[in-house]
Amino acid sequence: MARPTTVYVCSSCAHVAAKWHGQCPGCEEWNTMAEERAPARSASADGGLRGRRTPAARPIPLREISADRAPRIACGIGELDRLLGGGLVPGSLVLIGGSPGIGKSTLTTMALGLLQGAGRRTLYVSGEESAGQIRLRAERLEAGAAPGALDIPVLAETDLDVVLATLEAQAPEVCVIDSVQTLAAAELSGAPGTVGQVREVAHRLMAVAKRTGTAVVLVGHVTKDGALAGPRVLEHLVDCVLQFEGERERTYRTLRALKNRFGSTNDVGVFEMRDGGLVEVLDASARFVGEATRAPGSVVLAAMEGSRPLLVEVQALVSPSELVPPRRVVNGIDRNRLALVLAVLARHAGVGTGTADVFVNVVGGVRVDEPGADLAIALAVAGAARGVVLGETDSPTPVAAFGEIGLTGELRSVAHHDRRREEAEKFGLGQIISPESAPTLRDALRAGALGRRVHAAA
Ligand code: TYD
Ligand code: MG
Repeated sequence: MARPTTVYVCSSCAHVAAKWHGQCPGCEEWNTMAEERAPARSASADGGLRGRRTPAARPIPLREISADRAPRIACGIGELDRLLGGGLVPGSLVLIGGSPGIGKSTLTTMALGLLQGAGRRTLYVSGEESAGQIRLRAERLEAGAAPGALDIPVLAETDLDVVLATLEAQAPEVCVIDSVQTLAAAELSGAPGTVGQVREVAHRLMAVAKRTGTAVVLVGHVTKDGALAGPRVLEHLVDCVLQFEGERERTYRTLRALKNRFGSTNDVGVFEMRDGGLVEVLDASARFVGEATRAPGSVVLAAMEGSRPLLVEVQALVSPSELVPPRRVVNGIDRNRLALVLAVLARHAGVGTGTADVFVNVVGGVRVDEPGADLAIALAVAGAARGVVLGETDSPTPVAAFGEIGLTGELRSVAHHDRRREEAEKFGLGQIISPESAPTLRDALRAGALGRRVHAAA
């Protein structure tokens, strides 16, 4: 009987089965079986005790190993190069993830266009769009942010073998695969985008990239909640993971480095989607502060995005609810964070929102995922609940805030408080409320001129 060429491996317990199962026979987890290529039968399945012995390898001290530092390939998009740690590393794999329509194809086309224009050899492989569609995008970019976009060699292909053969033959310096979920290895029967296919595609691309020294940029779709398993399984495999965030309808997008073997992580670049492509926003704080309103429920958060301070406006709306339980809608912050802030506001600061809908929004489509956002959320909600403008009424500038809220109503200091303060001062924000000036949430509300009413209510 012919040996099957593929097997099904549980991604949770590594149980191997010849057939697909909805529930893993090994660990009884559901939907974990993924198709993989069957390992070639090794000549010494008995561990080499019988017949040929596998020769032992000789480990070498690190000191004797030469590590040649190949020069980085800078794309010419400052924010992207900074996130990559100075540019693409030859032979490395970079994964750019993000929801559909966020601008992954735009960014990668721009990078290749600039590289091609600078005399580098590039290749753009698309399994999603026809060559004609890619040309239309390139025409927009050629006229805008990336002259050279029309010179990019393009391959519209979904067959992995064809892509690999082309990579070997052309040996480009930089290659974009848009997207990794659309390529498929012919030996695997699973549909493109399944865990087994995505892993196989990435593994084989990596092997070729290492051999030819090509820097490969994989584009991967992630749904909003990260539900699609595809790119997640790649995170440990690739050298660098960049996450594109923001909302399709908004103009601002942030690119975040989640992992980088060749640079720092937790760094963020801000872009704006314009007609001619993505434009770096170098003065993001100035933009967001300029757009901030002096209305009840608004406050400027002095956030840290990686190593850089960023001022963003946080807005809240509190309105009587007909629903039980009432609505808690967030944009740009974590829902659980809001739940905690609301609980502390009610318990320790006399601001109850138990029968009201609460909406919290970080303006501009930016995401802030740090405890330092707590105080700004609390001040925005309290201001909205009371219908009171935060800070001195005659001050023309909005109030800035940052700090973590503890469960007993105390405020905790957060990292880089001096840099946050400097950034707020740099943009002329007169009043800054932080754990350094207000030890408790009640003190912070008082400092924001929300305290009197709270006291009256208490
Ligand atoms: P796209 O890069 O195709 O997103 P993704 O590959 O992540 O799915 O495009 C995102 C959106 O950007 C799309 O709706 C069109 C818009 N866009 C511009 O506004 N300006 C431009 O110059 C380009 C090329 C696209
Ligand atoms: Mg795309």
